[in-house]
Amino acid sequence: MTVDVLLGLQWGDEGKGKIVDYLAPNYDVIARFQGGPNAGHTLYYEGQKLVLHHIPSGILYDNIVNLLGNGMVIDPAGLQAEIEKVAALAIPILERMFIAQKAHLILPTHKILDGAYEAAKGKNKIGSTLRGIGPTYSDKTARNGLRIGDILMDDFQVRYEAAKTKHLRILEQYDYEFDLAPLETAFFEGIECLRKCQIVDGAYFLNERLTKGQKILAEGAQGTLLDINFGTYPYVTSSSTTTSGVCNGLGIAPQRIGEVIGISKAYCTRVGGGPFPTELHDEVGERIRQLGGEFGATTGRPRRCGWIDLPALRYAIMINGVTQLVLTKVDILSSFETIQAGIAYEIDGKASPNMPYDLDRQLPSVLYKEMEGWQSDLSSCRALTDTPQALQNYIEFLERELQVKITLLSIGPNREELIIG
Ligand code: GDP
Ligand code: IMO
Ligand code: MG
Repeated sequence: MTVDVLLGLQWGDEGKGKIVDYLAPNYDVIARFQGGPNAGHTLYYEGQKLVLHHIPSGILYDNIVNLLGNGMVIDPAGLQAEIEKVAALAIPILERMFIAQKAHLILPTHKILDGAYEAAKGKNKIGSTLRGIGPTYSDKTARNGLRIGDILMDDFQVRYEAAKTKHLRILEQYDYEFDLAPLETAFFEGIECLRKCQIVDGAYFLNERLTKGQKILAEGAQGTLLDINFGTYPYVTSSSTTTSGVCNGLGIAPQRIGEVIGISKAYCTRVGGGPFPTELHDEVGERIRQLGGEFGATTGRPRRCGWIDLPALRYAIMINGVTQLVLTKVDILSSFETIQAGIAYEIDGKASPNMPYDLDRQLPSVLYKEMEGWQSDLSSCRALTDTPQALQNYIEFLERELQVKITLLSIGPNREELIIG
């Protein structure tokens, strides 16, 4: 048995939650492999909107188990609030959810450090979600972190105090105000809640299930262009958001990777700072933002909007080994007379198909192809052949340019609002 992977190919918010929720019945296990509550994955359950930050998007089904994997960073207070939100929908969350003992804990002081570091960066700030992600992963790689398994050990409190003291010493160097006490109270309540959860060895948990013939879907958070290694550094998150992150985030061997499902919007968005070559600063960008409801699921910030960027997508497809593409929010473009796609960057006066190293210093101009819009409502379409010719042309164009089959087109936020490609 293999592990299929579903991940974002842009700067996050591609609609991963919705697509995982749709595909989940094909799997026995859904596992998050990286990131933490910086993610906001939106699902609809019985007409109600549910935004998940830590919990995998398979949680709505009763015969699927959900794992918060080793590669994640977990905020106990945030996870407790999320568990309560899901439990309020009469979902037996504690039965369906497992947490890997090697996942790292986001401490209250990690969140404060995130704020202090961002404030110190001034106009060069990353636009972090301020959930403590960067400082927690920094402590992990510096071998100072605390892990989920540690909360069951006798010396947890001592180790917590030592980490806190170290962080407070760092914070003395910053002119940054904070109030630790309420964060700490919520943290320890969250720790009590975590102690009631099913804590497992994530690698054995998954590999034993694979051996038994069970099917696993790894759910990515963020997107390829936010990857710590291959994204638009330093304007990235602090984890491996790409297919390789599945192996080191879940303890899955590379040869076990099966289908890699890459998700892209029919246009492009970014929330936070950093380069965005196809960004639209005009009324077209505003129109996409309004029609697409492009406001962050985690922080509520307006998302920056622009046209689809094919050099960036080709790069993401290459890095991840994408075997099939899902195009989301196609409905948002339905009223446009014409649609554009960025097809190359102009670097030193020449068209280049590749993403340059210094994207954050020198934003290249982009060469576009303009196409006719389909200008019709897609809500009754369920197969590509039912759709207007102009949309079929757009899909054929993307498949030719990207050399990957588009297997699904999403045309609305609900589970069934899909066109089979
Ligand atoms: P994720 O982080 O990749 O899971 O995406 P988010 O949940 O942050 O953002 C995607 C937003 O678009 C959510 O509000 C979804 O409900 C919504 N959405 C997803 N797919 C579609 C679609 O095909 N059409 C429309 N109109 N909305 C969609
Ligand atoms: P999902 O899973 C969009 C962005 C932040 C910031 C940068 C670093 O919902 O697609 P961090 O808090 O990780 O230190 O922030 O990454 N970012 C996201 N943008 N979707 C996300 O997750 C994101 N998670 C982080 O806005 O620019
Ligand atoms: Mg999101």
